[in-house]
Amino acid sequence: MLILGIESSCDETGLAVYSDTDGLLAHCLYSQILAHRQYGGVVPELASRDHIRQIVPLIDQVLKQANTKLANMDAIAYTAGPGLVGALLVGACFAKSLAMSINKPAIGVHHLEAHILVAQMEYPQLKFPFLALLVSGGHTQLIYAKALGDYELLGETIDDAAGEAFDKTAKVMGLPYPGGKFLSDLACYESYVQSGIKPFPRPLLDRPGCDFSFSGLKTHALQTWQKSSQDEQSKRAIAYCFQSAVVDTLLEKTRRALLITNAKQLVLAGGVAANQALREKILNFNCEVFYPSLQYCTDNGAMIAYTGMQYLKTENFDKNLQINVLPRWPLAKD
Ligand code: KG4
Ligand code: ZN
Repeated sequence: MLILGIESSCDETGLAVYSDTDGLLAHCLYSQILAHRQYGGVVPELASRDHIRQIVPLIDQVLKQANTKLANMDAIAYTAGPGLVGALLVGACFAKSLAMSINKPAIGVHHLEAHILVAQMEYPQLKFPFLALLVSGGHTQLIYAKALGDYELLGETIDDAAGEAFDKTAKVMGLPYPGGKFLSDLACYESYVQSGIKPFPRPLLDRPGCDFSFSGLKTHALQTWQKSSQDEQSKRAIAYCFQSAVVDTLLEKTRRALLITNAKQLVLAGGVAANQALREKILNFNCEVFYPSLQYCTDNGAMIAYTGMQYLKTENFDKNLQINVLPRWPLAKD
């Protein structure tokens, strides 16, 4: 079976073709980052318009790369939420229309489930149940993945997501949007030692449970920056202090979640999973750790195609032809 996947929940238009026997045949991505950078964040209306501009050429491109055609698809998968409503609607409308035109189903995929499951595409040895640390620009959650569609939320951020805190801290220091990667590239232990800046607090570690809080850390970074000489060394030192505090907090809460669930396999997912310091330190856990390749950590079409295929195989998905997107959509059911 073949499936076309469409991701359009935020500022990336991602397309992919996945085969249940041959794996990922092709994927392509258009990132709108440059269009949003001048505004310091994603402008929803611009995002929707850009998805409309990019989606048709990208569909052509991905089908060509996969050496196939639309008529060969057994289903079209698309991101149904969570995300920006206008952006989601572009993918949903195209997916439903394409599916109707070939008389095949359109499968609405949960963006966060796709972020987690794409690790299985690369590592088939990853089996339910497992623990997932999902860290992106919009979410920071510890999720116990029990089966397809069956997830338990063990903890989440009570304010900013980790990626959001990275981006906001980077912005304060004049780095381009989205600043997570720029900030992390700047982080330098030697600069921290020389700067005399004190280590940043580790939020919520004194409280039981697996919830996170990053907004105080962001404010702490801002105040430290304002009091500093605001030169390159301070930037590198603050980047180091901030990143260490985020990573330590993520690791401690993940350690607790591993104890609670007794999970033997752990997945690091979402855009912040691209963070090198996090990737290195998480390997110290006494369990098998999987993280997707960098291109599958940030938003992409492959994760939607792969997850859509899992549902296509079970035949358990909504076959309604109505176009419904869910900008807010919790992954775990209460
Ligand atoms: O999953 P994603 O592509 O989009 C959302 O669904 O949110 O995640 C994007 C987030 C941004 O906040 C970005 O700054 C962050 O992931 N990010 C990083 C790194 N690469 C991307 N944060 C820290 N270190 C990185 N290397
Ligand atoms: Zn995402």
